[in-house]
Amino acid sequence: MRKNILITGASTGLGEGMAREWAAKGCNLALCARRADKLEALQRELQQAHPDIRVLVRGLDVCDYDQVFEVFRGFRDELGSLDRVVVNAGIGSSQPIGRGHFAANRHTAETNFIAAIAQSEAAMEIFREQNSGHLVLMSSVSGVRWRLSHRLPRREPSSPSSQAATPVLPRLMMRVSLSLIMSTATTPRTASCLL
Ligand SMILES: NC(=O)c1ccc[n+]([C@@H]2O[C@H](COP(=O)([O-])OP(=O)(O)OC[C@H]3O[C@@H](n4cnc5c(N)ncnc54)[C@H](OP(=O)(O)O)[C@@H]3O)[C@@H](O)[C@H]2O)c1
Repeated sequence: MRKNILITGASTGLGEGMAREWAAKGCNLALCARRADKLEALQRELQQAHPDIRVLVRGLDVCDYDQVFEVFRGFRDELGSLDRVVVNAGIGSSQPIGRGHFAANRHTAETNFIAAIAQSEAAMEIFREQNSGHLVLMSSVSGVRWRLSHRLPRREPSSPSSQAATPVLPRLMMRVSLSLIMSTATTPRTASCLL
């Protein structure tokens, strides 16, 4: 079993849910997000329910790329190794293009795409040193559906940045066990492969 698991964006939503699931299975957790107070509350809850595991938390803005590398290495040093890294931090909403929302859309793209590359780089450096590791990337079913259909979407894509990450990131990595978790509100799906 993969024992030491790092999850970004663990303060709410799917990240928080994954933390609860893996804590119940006896995994040690390294959790990060911007809202450290929510992480600390989750840490207290999980440590109380599962006293045998370790739960480390750290505030991290994944758009601070240097800090991503520093935080991942710090978690690795404290736990001794990282067996799985889940690149989950992301923004679900985006604004219509051409309507004065460039700053917001740029921030979404940086968070969901560029920051995902930074997290994948930081994780892969550690996995290469260890010669093992499992990288999990969160993506969106809507992006895959759109690509498979080879048609223009009927309306503007809901999250172009999330879709951008889907085909590009796997090509950046070799020799790593990779999972894509593609999710809609009701239908999370996982596809795994060894590259
Ligand atoms: N739920 C869905 O239906 C769905 C569909 C498609 C894709 N996804 C993807 O799945 C992932 C999780 O979705 P969710 O529904 O669980 O979203 P969520 O409830 O909004 O949670 C997003 C998490 O990402 C963190 N985050 C956002 N910006 C961050 C930043 N700059 N640095 C660090 N952490 C950041 C948030 O924590 P802080 O605010 O505390 O930083 C939060 O913990 C996202 O990447 C999302 O794009 C979800």
